[in-house]
Amino acid sequence: MKILAIDTSCDETSVAVTEGRRVLSSVLFSQLLMHKQWGGVVPSIARRNHQERIDGVVQEALTKAKTKIEEIDAIAVTYGPGLAIALEVGILKAKELAQKHNKPLIGVNHMEGHIYSCFVQNSQGNPVREFEFPYLALLISGGHTELVLFENHLSYKILGEKLDDASGEALDKAGRLLGLGYPAGPVIERLATEVNNRDIYKFTRPLIHAKTLMFSFSGLKTAFLYFFRKMTPEDQIGQLRDLASSFQEAVFDTLLAKTKLAMEQTGVHRLVVGGGVVANLYLRQKLRVLAKNHNSTVFFPPYKYLTGDNAAMIGVAAAYYAEQNRFVSDLSSLERIPRLRLE
Ligand code: KG4
Ligand code: ZN
Repeated sequence: MKILAIDTSCDETSVAVTEGRRVLSSVLFSQLLMHKQWGGVVPSIARRNHQERIDGVVQEALTKAKTKIEEIDAIAVTYGPGLAIALEVGILKAKELAQKHNKPLIGVNHMEGHIYSCFVQNSQGNPVREFEFPYLALLISGGHTELVLFENHLSYKILGEKLDDASGEALDKAGRLLGLGYPAGPVIERLATEVNNRDIYKFTRPLIHAKTLMFSFSGLKTAFLYFFRKMTPEDQIGQLRDLASSFQEAVFDTLLAKTKLAMEQTGVHRLVVGGGVVANLYLRQKLRVLAKNHNSTVFFPPYKYLTGDNAAMIGVAAAYYAEQNRFVSDLSSLERIPRLRLE
């Protein structure tokens, strides 16, 4: 079954053609440069760019997959969570294609896409990775930070989530203060590597010892801000690497502590990790050690493009909806849900 999947939840106009877990094509128009100068994603700019690009991206995805819309069996689209006016563009296009070409429609939760990103395969069917439920899923992006019990296909239970800032957002905000531009995650990773990821400032890690799976990063952000403001301008520049590294360590320590607690509370030790922050190789290393200490394994998105937003992961999740015959019954009933939750 061939699926054409669309994701316009944030600032990437993304379309993929998938078949089961295999990706036949994945095309992404990144709007990063349009938003960079504003230090974050501007919804109205995102919407306009999605509208301008969506038709071209759909066409390119079909061409790259060497297929035609007539040969597609279903259309899948992200209907939340995300920016309302950005989501709308993808949903409208998906409905239009479904109607015009008489295809069934599947609505997918963007976060389940990030979970399934760990199981996406290339066109040759690699990596193989059989499912062995249950998993503990750690989802870490610019908008989300959550721990989810992935019980079976399309079946989830949220165990813990952010109370304030998301982990990627915390990194971006600290990076902004340090003048690193947007998104700051990759720059912080590089700076931290240059001082061997050492942690000389030992910033506060809110809730780290509390027996809760909720995440909080706003106290860390504030502590970092005050600390930075008290430094001399020379030190602010001279200590840039250590500031970045210590901040990153505080965020990652928190992610690791909560993941470990969730493993112990649930007895589920197999991990999957999705979202933009898992592009970080140092974090991957820490998570590998955590899994190994529990005689377990951790899956990351197997290809770099799958860490960020993409439609391939939406198409792969949609394959399981199709398997369970869960299509949208009436096109008009699918609406954007900006705060859509898993469960
Ligand atoms: O999943 P994503 O591309 O978009 C959202 O849905 O939010 O995640 C973007 C986030 C940003 O906060 C960015 O700073 C972070 O992922 N990020 C990283 C790295 N690459 C991207 N964080 C840490 N290390 C990285 N290498
Ligand atoms: Zn995302």
